[in-house]
Amino acid sequence: MRPALIEVSGDSKAEKLAALAELAEISPQARALGTLRETMVFSVGNPEASIMLIGEAPGYEEEQQREPFVGPAGQKLTGILTAMGLKRSDVYISNICKFRPATAGSQGTSNRAPTDVEMAACLPFILTEIAIIAPKVIIALGASACKGLGIGDGVTRLRGKFHDVQGIPTMVTYHPSYILREERIDGGLRAKREVWEDMLKVMEKTGMPISEKQRGYFKK
Ligand code: URA
Repeated sequence: MRPALIEVSGDSKAEKLAALAELAEISPQARALGTLRETMVFSVGNPEASIMLIGEAPGYEEEQQREPFVGPAGQKLTGILTAMGLKRSDVYISNICKFRPATAGSQGTSNRAPTDVEMAACLPFILTEIAIIAPKVIIALGASACKGLGIGDGVTRLRGKFHDVQGIPTMVTYHPSYILREERIDGGLRAKREVWEDMLKVMEKTGMPISEKQRGYFKK
């Protein structure tokens, strides 16, 4: 069953998000688990955005800077947005889990994916953010976002199509860190083209202009 949305007051979307961020900071459910780190990393971007992106959880760099998607995967994401003709400040960038998952011992720069329980503890926040932003389209980046939002398992099977999340068309695509991995293996052209085809569908859905040059990006 879906958790109830969190009641927040405020006249504008920005005010409601600021109130929600304060509640996320205390988040008794998430903090009681004892498996997430201290620093809460909320979302970034335009509260009036048509496009909302949802990733997994903050990593080392995100925790340092208290901003989602600022490390290597974030740079890749910024590149994808640039190819779409967008700036980070045009969209709303969020994570399914608001805290960096902890590992035993000295964690250093290593990151891990959040567990189902960790994602469930943060779910009321992301669902409330979706309700506040009310974007035209959500982009679910990778397996954790898909699972956490209840879309399902298996990004390869789910990607390229719109799924319904709280009545908002939600495109599933690969996480940018998957592109980084594929780039190291074989240059990553296939992965880049697949993500790009998913982004073209998002651009069509939101009524963005698409040039012929853009349509041909990342083709062999
Ligand atoms: N990966 C994510 O899913 N989110 C971030 O904020 C950074 C890396």
